[in-house]
Amino acid sequence: MEICVIGAGYVGLTSAVVFARLGHKVTCVDKDSEKIKKLNEGSITIFEPGLEKLLVGFNRNISFSEDIEDAIGRAETILIAVGTPQLPDGEADLQFVNEVILTIANTIYSHKTIITKSTVPIGTNDKLVEILLELEVKRSRFHIVSNPEFLREGSAVKDMLHPDKIVVGLEDHDQQSLIKLKQLYYGINAPFVVTSLKGAEMIKYASNSFLATKISFMNEMARICDVFNVDIMDVAKGIGSDPRIGSEFLQAGIGYGGSCFPKDLQSLIYTSKKQEILPKLLMATEEINQTQVDVYMDKLKSYIPNLTDKKITVLGLSFKPNTDDIRSSPAIRLIHKLVAHNAKVHVYDPKAKYETTNVIQFHHVNDALNDTDCIIVATDWDEFLYLDWNDIKRRVNENIVLDTRNFLNRNKVEKHGFTYVGLGRSRNETKLPE
Ligand code: UDX
Repeated sequence: MEICVIGAGYVGLTSAVVFARLGHKVTCVDKDSEKIKKLNEGSITIFEPGLEKLLVGFNRNISFSEDIEDAIGRAETILIAVGTPQLPDGEADLQFVNEVILTIANTIYSHKTIITKSTVPIGTNDKLVEILLELEVKRSRFHIVSNPEFLREGSAVKDMLHPDKIVVGLEDHDQQSLIKLKQLYYGINAPFVVTSLKGAEMIKYASNSFLATKISFMNEMARICDVFNVDIMDVAKGIGSDPRIGSEFLQAGIGYGGSCFPKDLQSLIYTSKKQEILPKLLMATEEINQTQVDVYMDKLKSYIPNLTDKKITVLGLSFKPNTDDIRSSPAIRLIHKLVAHNAKVHVYDPKAKYETTNVIQFHHVNDALNDTDCIIVATDWDEFLYLDWNDIKRRVNENIVLDTRNFLNRNKVEKHGFTYVGLGRSRNETKLPE
Protein backbone atom coordinates (compact mmCIF):
# COMPACT_ATOMS: atom_id res chain seq x y z
CA MET A 1 0.00 0.00 0.00
CA GLU A 2 1.26 3.51 -0.81
CA ILE A 3 1.01 5.62 2.34
CA CYS A 4 1.66 9.26 3.13
CA VAL A 5 2.32 10.07 6.79
CA ILE A 6 1.98 13.74 7.59
CA GLY A 7 4.07 14.80 10.59
CA ALA A 8 7.40 13.31 11.65
CA GLY A 9 6.96 13.64 15.41
CA TYR A 10 6.77 10.71 17.83
CA VAL A 11 3.56 9.23 16.50
CA GLY A 12 4.15 10.06 12.82
CA LEU A 13 7.71 8.85 12.67
CA THR A 14 7.08 5.63 14.59
CA SER A 15 3.99 4.89 12.48
CA ALA A 16 5.90 5.60 9.26
CA VAL A 17 8.79 3.32 10.20
CA VAL A 18 6.53 0.53 11.48
CA PHE A 19 4.36 0.63 8.33
CA ALA A 20 7.53 0.44 6.24
CA ARG A 21 8.52 -2.59 8.31
CA LEU A 22 5.09 -4.11 7.49
CA GLY A 23 5.94 -3.81 3.80
CA HIS A 24 4.09 -0.65 2.78
CA LYS A 25 5.62 2.10 0.65
CA VAL A 26 5.74 5.09 2.96
CA THR A 27 6.45 8.77 2.39
CA CYS A 28 6.72 10.70 5.63
CA VAL A 29 6.38 14.46 5.22
CA ASP A 30 7.13 17.32 7.57
CA LYS A 31 7.50 21.09 7.18
CA ASP A 32 10.76 21.03 9.16
CA SER A 33 13.47 20.80 6.48
CA GLU A 34 16.28 20.13 9.02
CA LYS A 35 14.35 17.15 10.34
CA ILE A 36 13.70 15.79 6.84
CA LYS A 37 17.36 16.17 5.93
CA LYS A 38 18.50 14.24 9.00
CA LEU A 39 15.92 11.51 8.48
CA ASN A 40 16.97 11.07 4.87
CA GLU A 41 20.52 10.56 6.13
CA GLY A 42 19.16 7.72 8.29
CA SER A 43 19.45 9.43 11.66
CA ILE A 44 16.51 9.73 13.99
CA THR A 45 15.59 13.12 15.40
CA ILE A 46 14.22 11.78 18.71
CA PHE A 47 15.60 9.32 21.26
CA GLU A 48 13.45 6.24 20.88
CA PRO A 49 14.91 2.78 21.49
CA GLY A 50 14.90 0.56 18.38
CA LEU A 51 13.53 3.17 15.98
CA GLU A 52 16.77 4.06 14.20
CA LYS A 53 17.69 0.40 13.70
CA LEU A 54 14.27 -0.28 12.19
CA LEU A 55 14.54 2.78 9.94
CA VAL A 56 17.91 1.72 8.61
CA GLY A 57 16.72 -1.88 8.13
CA PHE A 58 13.64 -0.91 6.10
CA ASN A 59 14.82 2.30 4.42
CA ARG A 60 14.01 0.81 1.00
CA ASN A 61 10.30 1.20 1.91
CA ILE A 62 10.44 4.70 3.31
CA SER A 63 11.34 8.18 2.15
CA PHE A 64 11.13 11.60 3.79
CA SER A 65 10.05 14.74 2.06
CA GLU A 66 8.89 18.31 2.51
CA ASP A 67 6.66 18.10 -0.54
CA ILE A 68 3.30 17.35 1.04
CA GLU A 69 1.25 17.87 -2.17
CA ASP A 70 3.33 15.38 -4.11
CA ALA A 71 3.16 12.77 -1.32
CA ILE A 72 -0.61 13.15 -0.97
CA GLY A 73 -1.05 12.91 -4.73
CA ARG A 74 0.72 9.54 -4.91
CA ALA A 75 -0.74 7.91 -1.79
CA GLU A 76 -4.02 6.03 -1.50
CA THR A 77 -3.87 6.24 2.30
CA ILE A 78 -3.02 9.40 4.24
CA LEU A 79 -2.18 9.39 7.92
CA ILE A 80 -2.51 12.67 9.78
CA ALA A 81 -0.04 12.67 12.68
CA VAL A 82 0.53 16.36 13.29
CA GLY A 83 0.62 17.92 16.74
CA THR A 84 -2.46 19.18 18.55
CA PRO A 85 -0.79 21.36 21.20
CA GLN A 86 -2.55 22.90 24.10
CA LEU A 87 -3.85 26.48 24.09
CA PRO A 88 -3.59 28.47 27.37
CA ASP A 89 -7.22 27.67 28.30
CA GLY A 90 -6.72 23.90 27.87
CA GLU A 91 -8.36 23.69 24.43
CA ALA A 92 -6.54 21.58 21.82
CA ASP A 93 -5.11 23.71 19.03
CA LEU A 94 -6.28 22.20 15.72
CA GLN A 95 -4.38 24.65 13.51
CA PHE A 96 -2.07 21.99 12.05
CA VAL A 97 -4.85 19.44 11.46
CA ASN A 98 -6.90 22.11 9.68
CA GLU A 99 -3.92 23.13 7.53
CA VAL A 100 -3.45 19.51 6.46
CA ILE A 101 -7.13 19.11 5.57
CA LEU A 102 -6.97 22.24 3.41
CA THR A 103 -3.92 20.88 1.59
CA ILE A 104 -5.64 17.54 1.06
CA ALA A 105 -8.73 19.32 -0.29
CA ASN A 106 -6.56 21.12 -2.84
CA THR A 107 -4.67 18.02 -3.87
CA ILE A 108 -7.27 15.27 -4.03
CA TYR A 109 -7.72 13.78 -7.53
CA SER A 110 -8.40 10.14 -6.64
CA HIS A 111 -9.99 8.32 -3.70
CA LYS A 112 -8.10 8.70 -0.39
CA THR A 113 -8.55 7.02 2.95
CA ILE A 114 -7.68 9.76 5.42
CA ILE A 115 -6.69 8.39 8.80
CA THR A 116 -6.46 10.68 11.81
CA LYS A 117 -3.81 9.51 14.27
CA SER A 118 -3.45 12.86 16.03
CA THR A 119 -5.38 13.12 19.29
CA VAL A 120 -8.33 15.36 18.48
CA PRO A 121 -11.36 16.51 20.52
CA ILE A 122 -14.60 14.59 20.20
CA GLY A 123 -16.41 15.59 17.03
CA THR A 124 -13.29 16.78 15.16
CA ASN A 125 -13.31 14.00 12.55
CA ASP A 126 -17.00 14.64 11.75
CA LYS A 127 -16.00 18.29 11.29
CA LEU A 128 -13.21 17.26 8.90
CA VAL A 129 -15.79 15.46 6.73
CA GLU A 130 -17.90 18.64 6.72
CA ILE A 131 -14.90 20.84 5.84
CA LEU A 132 -13.92 18.65 2.89
CA LEU A 133 -17.50 18.71 1.58
CA GLU A 134 -17.71 22.49 2.05
CA LEU A 135 -14.49 22.79 0.05
CA GLU A 136 -16.33 20.92 -2.74
CA VAL A 137 -14.35 17.71 -2.52
CA LYS A 138 -16.58 15.00 -4.05
CA ARG A 139 -18.05 12.61 -1.46
CA SER A 140 -16.81 9.65 -3.53
CA ARG A 141 -13.20 10.88 -3.25
CA PHE A 142 -12.56 10.29 0.47
CA HIS A 143 -13.29 8.42 3.63
CA ILE A 144 -12.20 9.59 7.05
CA VAL A 145 -11.10 7.11 9.70
CA SER A 146 -10.19 7.82 13.31
CA ASN A 147 -7.34 5.54 14.40
CA PRO A 148 -5.88 6.86 17.65
CA GLU A 149 -2.45 5.79 18.80
CA PHE A 150 -1.67 4.45 22.28
CA LEU A 151 2.10 4.16 22.07
CA ARG A 152 4.28 5.20 24.99
CA GLU A 153 7.49 7.14 24.57
CA GLY A 154 10.47 4.94 25.29
CA SER A 155 8.67 1.81 24.06
CA ALA A 156 6.97 3.28 20.99
CA VAL A 157 8.21 0.66 18.51
CA LYS A 158 7.25 -2.27 20.72
CA ASP A 159 3.85 -0.72 21.49
CA MET A 160 3.11 -0.21 17.79
CA LEU A 161 4.23 -3.66 16.75
CA HIS A 162 2.45 -5.37 19.65
CA PRO A 163 -0.57 -3.25 20.57
CA ASP A 164 -3.29 -4.64 22.84
CA LYS A 165 -5.91 -3.34 20.39
CA ILE A 166 -6.33 -1.31 17.22
CA VAL A 167 -9.11 1.25 17.60
CA VAL A 168 -10.89 2.15 14.39
CA GLY A 169 -13.61 4.81 14.22
CA LEU A 170 -15.59 4.80 10.98
CA GLU A 171 -18.02 7.09 9.17
CA ASP A 172 -21.42 5.31 9.09
CA HIS A 173 -20.08 1.72 9.47
CA ASP A 174 -17.97 2.22 6.34
CA GLN A 175 -16.80 -1.36 5.62
CA GLN A 176 -14.53 -0.36 2.74
CA SER A 177 -12.29 1.61 5.12
CA LEU A 178 -12.33 -1.18 7.67
CA ILE A 179 -10.92 -3.56 5.03
CA LYS A 180 -8.27 -0.92 4.21
CA LEU A 181 -7.26 -0.65 7.86
CA LYS A 182 -7.01 -4.43 8.14
CA GLN A 183 -4.69 -4.42 5.10
CA LEU A 184 -2.68 -1.59 6.61
CA TYR A 185 -2.13 -3.47 9.87
CA TYR A 186 -1.69 -6.87 8.23
CA GLY A 187 1.05 -8.67 10.17
CA ILE A 188 0.11 -7.16 13.51
CA ASN A 189 -1.66 -9.48 15.87
CA ALA A 190 -4.23 -7.44 17.80
CA PRO A 191 -8.02 -7.28 18.03
CA PHE A 192 -9.81 -4.46 16.22
CA VAL A 193 -12.17 -2.32 18.29
CA VAL A 194 -14.53 -0.86 15.70
CA THR A 195 -16.71 2.12 16.55
CA SER A 196 -17.87 5.49 15.25
CA LEU A 197 -15.54 8.43 14.59
CA LYS A 198 -16.57 10.04 17.87
CA GLY A 199 -16.33 6.71 19.68
CA ALA A 200 -12.67 6.32 18.70
CA GLU A 201 -11.88 9.90 19.73
CA MET A 202 -13.52 9.29 23.09
CA ILE A 203 -11.66 5.99 23.65
CA LYS A 204 -8.35 7.81 23.33
CA TYR A 205 -9.32 10.50 25.84
CA ALA A 206 -10.95 8.02 28.23
CA SER A 207 -7.88 5.80 28.12
CA ASN A 208 -5.42 8.56 28.99
CA SER A 209 -7.78 10.08 31.55
CA PHE A 210 -8.28 6.74 33.27
CA LEU A 211 -4.54 6.08 33.50
CA ALA A 212 -3.86 9.59 34.76
CA THR A 213 -6.63 9.15 37.35
CA LYS A 214 -5.11 5.85 38.46
CA ILE A 215 -1.81 7.65 39.11
CA SER A 216 -3.42 10.56 40.96
CA PHE A 217 -5.47 8.08 43.00
CA MET A 218 -2.27 6.36 44.12
CA ASN A 219 -0.63 9.69 44.84
CA GLU A 220 -3.57 10.60 47.07
CA MET A 221 -3.36 7.21 48.78
CA ALA A 222 0.37 7.81 49.34
CA ARG A 223 -0.35 11.13 51.03
CA ILE A 224 -2.78 9.32 53.35
CA CYS A 225 -0.30 6.46 53.90
CA ASP A 226 2.28 9.00 55.03
CA VAL A 227 0.05 10.15 57.88
CA PHE A 228 -0.82 6.64 59.03
CA ASN A 229 2.68 5.24 58.68
CA VAL A 230 1.63 2.67 56.08
CA ASP A 231 3.81 1.67 53.12
CA ILE A 232 2.15 2.61 49.79
CA MET A 233 4.24 -0.06 48.07
CA ASP A 234 2.45 -2.73 50.13
CA VAL A 235 -0.87 -1.11 49.27
CA ALA A 236 -0.04 -1.14 45.52
CA LYS A 237 0.90 -4.81 45.76
CA GLY A 238 -2.19 -5.66 47.76
CA ILE A 239 -4.72 -3.95 45.53
CA GLY A 240 -2.89 -4.68 42.26
CA SER A 241 -3.30 -8.42 42.62
CA ASP A 242 -7.06 -7.92 42.10
CA PRO A 243 -7.55 -8.26 38.32
CA ARG A 244 -10.37 -5.72 38.49
CA ILE A 245 -7.77 -3.14 39.56
CA GLY A 246 -4.67 -4.43 37.76
CA SER A 247 -1.07 -4.07 38.90
CA GLU A 248 0.12 -1.43 36.43
CA PHE A 249 0.11 2.34 36.88
CA LEU A 250 -0.03 2.08 40.66
CA GLN A 251 3.35 3.68 41.25
CA ALA A 252 2.95 6.71 43.50
CA GLY A 253 5.44 9.48 42.94
CA ILE A 254 5.86 13.04 41.82
CA GLY A 255 3.01 12.89 39.31
CA TYR A 256 2.57 12.28 35.61
CA GLY A 257 4.05 14.41 32.84
CA GLY A 258 4.80 14.07 29.15
CA SER A 259 3.16 15.25 25.99
CA CYS A 260 -0.11 13.33 26.43
CA PHE A 261 -1.63 12.92 29.89
CA PRO A 262 -1.57 16.57 31.02
CA LYS A 263 -2.64 17.92 27.63
CA ASP A 264 -5.34 15.34 26.93
CA LEU A 265 -6.83 15.60 30.38
CA GLN A 266 -7.03 19.37 30.13
CA SER A 267 -8.51 19.13 26.66
CA LEU A 268 -11.25 16.74 27.84
CA ILE A 269 -11.96 19.00 30.82
CA TYR A 270 -12.24 21.95 28.41
CA THR A 271 -14.59 20.16 25.98
CA SER A 272 -16.76 18.81 28.80
CA LYS A 273 -17.11 22.25 30.37
CA LYS A 274 -18.05 23.68 27.01
CA GLN A 275 -20.93 21.20 26.95
CA GLU A 276 -21.84 22.32 30.48
CA ILE A 277 -20.58 19.17 32.17
CA LEU A 278 -18.31 19.74 35.15
CA PRO A 279 -15.89 16.78 35.07
CA LYS A 280 -15.15 16.76 38.80
CA LEU A 281 -13.10 13.56 38.83
CA LEU A 282 -10.88 14.73 35.97
CA MET A 283 -10.42 18.09 37.66
CA ALA A 284 -9.40 16.36 40.90
CA THR A 285 -6.95 14.16 38.99
CA GLU A 286 -5.39 17.26 37.52
CA GLU A 287 -5.34 19.11 40.86
CA ILE A 288 -3.60 16.23 42.66
CA ASN A 289 -1.04 16.04 39.88
CA GLN A 290 -0.34 19.76 39.97
CA THR A 291 0.15 19.83 43.75
CA GLN A 292 2.27 16.67 43.99
CA VAL A 293 5.48 18.66 43.54
CA ASP A 294 4.45 20.84 46.52
CA VAL A 295 4.13 17.72 48.68
CA TYR A 296 7.81 17.01 48.02
CA MET A 297 8.79 20.64 48.53
CA ASP A 298 7.11 20.51 51.97
CA LYS A 299 8.98 17.32 52.77
CA LEU A 300 12.25 18.89 51.71
CA LYS A 301 11.59 22.01 53.79
CA SER A 302 10.90 19.88 56.87
CA TYR A 303 14.56 18.79 56.61
CA ILE A 304 16.07 22.00 55.26
CA PRO A 305 13.78 24.87 56.30
CA ASN A 306 15.83 27.56 54.54
CA LEU A 307 16.88 26.55 51.04
CA THR A 308 18.74 29.77 50.26
CA ASP A 309 22.19 28.91 48.86
CA LYS A 310 21.73 25.22 49.70
CA LYS A 311 23.11 22.94 47.03
CA ILE A 312 20.38 20.58 45.85
CA THR A 313 21.15 17.85 43.30
CA VAL A 314 18.27 16.77 41.11
CA LEU A 315 18.79 13.42 39.39
CA GLY A 316 16.56 13.12 36.34
CA LEU A 317 14.92 15.73 34.13
CA SER A 318 12.78 13.74 31.71
CA PHE A 319 9.13 13.07 32.56
CA LYS A 320 9.93 9.37 32.77
CA PRO A 321 12.96 7.13 32.08
CA ASN A 322 14.23 6.07 28.62
CA THR A 323 13.32 9.32 26.93
CA ASP A 324 14.93 12.75 26.58
CA ASP A 325 11.50 14.38 26.63
CA ILE A 326 11.02 17.02 29.32
CA ARG A 327 7.59 18.23 28.20
CA SER A 328 5.43 18.82 31.32
CA SER A 329 8.04 16.98 33.34
CA PRO A 330 7.41 17.19 37.10
CA ALA A 331 11.21 17.28 37.54
CA ILE A 332 11.28 20.65 35.74
CA ARG A 333 8.43 21.99 37.90
CA LEU A 334 10.37 20.91 40.97
CA ILE A 335 13.53 22.63 39.71
CA HIS A 336 11.60 25.89 39.20
CA LYS A 337 10.36 25.74 42.79
CA LEU A 338 13.88 25.09 44.09
CA VAL A 339 15.22 28.04 42.12
CA ALA A 340 12.40 30.22 43.43
CA HIS A 341 13.57 29.29 46.94
CA ASN A 342 17.10 30.47 46.02
CA ALA A 343 18.62 27.01 46.14
CA LYS A 344 21.68 26.23 44.03
CA VAL A 345 20.45 23.51 41.76
CA HIS A 346 22.72 20.89 40.24
CA VAL A 347 21.18 18.47 37.76
CA TYR A 348 22.11 15.29 35.97
CA ASP A 349 20.09 13.27 33.46
CA PRO A 350 21.37 10.40 31.28
CA LYS A 351 19.62 11.81 28.14
CA ALA A 352 17.59 14.95 28.70
CA LYS A 353 18.91 18.48 28.64
CA TYR A 354 17.55 21.59 30.28
CA GLU A 355 19.15 24.98 30.24
CA THR A 356 17.99 27.74 32.49
CA THR A 357 19.50 30.33 34.79
CA ASN A 358 20.58 29.27 38.28
CA VAL A 359 20.73 25.60 37.29
CA ILE A 360 23.98 23.78 36.45
CA GLN A 361 23.73 20.60 34.42
CA PHE A 362 26.52 18.02 34.72
CA HIS A 363 27.53 15.29 32.28
CA HIS A 364 28.59 12.92 35.05
CA VAL A 365 26.41 12.02 37.96
CA ASN A 366 29.25 12.18 40.51
CA ASP A 367 30.10 15.76 39.54
CA ALA A 368 26.51 16.74 40.19
CA LEU A 369 26.63 15.11 43.62
CA ASN A 370 29.78 16.79 44.98
CA ASP A 371 29.17 18.86 48.14
CA THR A 372 25.42 18.63 47.88
CA ASP A 373 23.02 19.26 50.75
CA CYS A 374 20.27 17.00 49.40
CA ILE A 375 19.86 14.47 46.59
CA ILE A 376 16.48 14.42 44.88
CA VAL A 377 15.73 11.56 42.50
CA ALA A 378 13.14 13.04 40.14
CA THR A 379 13.06 10.45 37.33
CA ASP A 380 13.26 6.68 37.80
CA TRP A 381 16.15 5.98 35.42
CA ASP A 382 17.55 2.47 36.03
CA GLU A 383 21.02 4.00 36.25
CA PHE A 384 20.12 5.51 39.63
CA LEU A 385 19.44 2.07 41.06
CA TYR A 386 23.13 1.30 40.72
CA LEU A 387 24.56 4.42 42.35
CA ASP A 388 27.53 3.75 44.60
CA TRP A 389 26.19 5.09 47.89
CA ASN A 390 29.43 4.35 49.67
CA ASP A 391 31.26 6.67 47.31
CA ILE A 392 28.47 9.26 47.33
CA LYS A 393 28.62 9.43 51.12
CA ARG A 394 32.10 10.86 50.84
CA ARG A 395 31.05 13.51 48.33
CA VAL A 396 28.00 15.06 50.00
CA ASN A 397 27.54 17.64 52.75
CA GLU A 398 24.30 16.20 54.08
CA ASN A 399 22.93 12.66 53.88
CA ILE A 400 19.39 13.32 52.69
CA VAL A 401 17.89 11.44 49.75
CA LEU A 402 14.45 12.45 48.52
CA ASP A 403 13.17 9.65 46.31
CA THR A 404 10.20 11.21 44.51
CA ARG A 405 9.60 8.04 42.54
CA ASN A 406 9.67 5.57 45.46
CA PHE A 407 11.94 3.37 43.45
CA LEU A 408 15.40 3.29 45.04
CA ASN A 409 16.40 0.34 47.21
CA ARG A 410 15.68 1.98 50.53
CA ASN A 411 17.66 -0.50 52.64
CA LYS A 412 20.72 -0.05 50.46
CA VAL A 413 20.53 3.75 50.76
CA GLU A 414 19.92 3.66 54.52
CA LYS A 415 22.68 1.12 55.09
CA HIS A 416 25.15 3.79 54.06
CA GLY A 417 23.83 6.24 56.61
CA PHE A 418 21.53 8.28 54.37
CA THR A 419 18.14 9.53 55.47
CA TYR A 420 15.75 8.12 52.89
CA VAL A 421 12.60 10.16 52.23
CA GLY A 422 9.90 8.72 50.02
CA LEU A 423 6.15 9.34 49.86
CA GLY A 424 3.96 7.03 51.90
CA ARG A 425 6.89 4.86 52.94
CA SER A 426 5.90 3.84 56.49
CA ARG A 427 8.89 4.12 58.86
CA ASN A 428 8.99 7.35 60.83
CA GLU A 429 11.56 9.56 59.20
CA THR A 430 13.85 11.15 61.76
CA LYS A 431 14.65 14.78 61.07
CA LEU A 432 18.23 15.82 60.84
CA PRO A 433 19.32 18.55 63.24
CA GLU A 434 19.48 21.94 61.53
C1 UDX B 1 0.98 7.86 27.62
C2 UDX B 1 0.09 6.62 27.43
O1 UDX B 1 0.59 5.55 28.25
C3 UDX B 1 0.02 6.23 25.98
O2 UDX B 1 -0.87 5.14 25.83
C4 UDX B 1 -0.47 7.43 25.15
O3 UDX B 1 -0.49 7.12 23.77
C5 UDX B 1 0.44 8.63 25.38
O4 UDX B 1 0.50 8.91 26.79
P1 UDX B 1 3.59 8.34 27.72
O5 UDX B 1 3.22 9.78 27.87
O6 UDX B 1 4.69 7.98 26.78
O7 UDX B 1 2.31 7.50 27.26
O8 UDX B 1 4.03 7.82 29.17
P2 UDX B 1 3.57 6.74 30.24
O9 UDX B 1 4.54 5.64 30.26
O10 UDX B 1 2.15 6.36 30.11
O11 UDX B 1 3.77 7.60 31.58
C6 UDX B 1 3.11 8.85 31.75
C7 UDX B 1 3.51 9.51 33.06
O12 UDX B 1 2.96 8.83 34.18
C8 UDX B 1 5.02 9.55 33.31
O13 UDX B 1 5.37 10.81 33.82
C9 UDX B 1 5.25 8.47 34.34
O14 UDX B 1 6.39 8.69 35.13
C10 UDX B 1 3.97 8.56 35.16
N1 UDX B 1 3.59 7.32 35.86
C11 UDX B 1 3.29 6.20 35.15
C12 UDX B 1 3.48 7.33 37.25
O15 UDX B 1 3.73 8.34 37.91
N2 UDX B 1 3.08 6.18 37.88
C13 UDX B 1 2.79 5.04 37.21
O16 UDX B 1 2.44 4.04 37.86
C14 UDX B 1 2.90 5.05 35.79
